[in-house]
Amino acid sequence: MNCALNMIPIKSQKDIEKMRAVNRLVALTHAEIEKHIAVDVTTKELDKVAHDFIIKHGARPNFYKYRGYPASSCISVNEVVIHGIPSYRTLADGDIVSVDLGAVLDGFHGDMARTYAVGSISNNAKSLIQVTKDCFYEGLKECRAGRRVGDISNAIQKHAEKFGYGVVRQFCGHGIGRRLHEDPAVANFGASGTGTLLKAGYCLAIEPMINEGSFNVTIDSDGWTVRTADGKLSAHYENVVLITNDEPEILTQYKGVKTYDKN
Ligand code: MF3
Ligand code: CO
Repeated sequence: MNCALNMIPIKSQKDIEKMRAVNRLVALTHAEIEKHIAVDVTTKELDKVAHDFIIKHGARPNFYKYRGYPASSCISVNEVVIHGIPSYRTLADGDIVSVDLGAVLDGFHGDMARTYAVGSISNNAKSLIQVTKDCFYEGLKECRAGRRVGDISNAIQKHAEKFGYGVVRQFCGHGIGRRLHEDPAVANFGASGTGTLLKAGYCLAIEPMINEGSFNVTIDSDGWTVRTADGKLSAHYENVVLITNDEPEILTQYKGVKTYDKN
C-alpha cells in the first residue's frame, strides 16, 4: 500500500451531486415500499417492488450479488436484525419489518433502512422503532467536521442504553461513495473522542441496529439472516449523511430536495 495519508475519499462537488441523486432515488424507493407494507404481502413481493422501482429509474440495485447476496433488498421481520432474505413469508398484523435497500447510479451508491409497522403493533415495538430512529438523530448531532467517528458511536450507544436496549456489536455503519462500503467503519457503540477525524466531504451511512433485549445475535445457516439470540425484536434505521463545514446533510431524503434528474 502506498503512503496515502487519507484513505477516505473526500467527495468533490460533482460527486456530491451524484450522491444526492442516487440517495434521493433510494429514499423514493422506500416511499414506494412503504405503500406496499400490508398484512399478507410476501417479503419477496416487497423486494420486487424495490427492484422494479430502482430499474425503472435508470439505476441498479447494489445489494444484488454483493458478496453473493441473492436479492435487491434485505427484509428482516421481528427478531431478524438485518440481512433477511426476501421469501414467500407473509407479513402478519403486529409484525415489524426492517427494509434495507440501496442502488448505484452514475457510479455512486445509496443505502437506506427503515423499520415499518405492519397493522397495529405493540407499544414495545413502537418504542423500539422510535428509539432506533432517535439514535440516528443523536449520532447526527455529532456529524460535524472536527468531531470523531467515536463521537457518533457513543451518542448512539448512550441513547439506546438509556432505554435498556442492546446495541448490536457485530455490524456497523460505513463510509459510502463509489463503493457501497468504504472507510471508515461507523460502529453504533464506542468511546467519544476516538477514531477517525471527520472532514467535510465524507459520506457516512449511519445505521443503528437496536435490540429490545440483549445485543447478542446469531447467523442462520444461509450465511445471511442475522437474528437476536434471545428472540426479542430488533429495529434498524439508516441514512447516508454528508459531512460539511456546517450542518450535516441527510442525502437519503426527497422532500424539499431539488432533483438532479437528467430529464
Ligand atoms: N445496507 C447493508 C449494509 O450496509 C448492505 C447489505 S449488503 C447485502 O450493511 F449484501 F446484504 F446486500
Ligand atoms: Co449500510
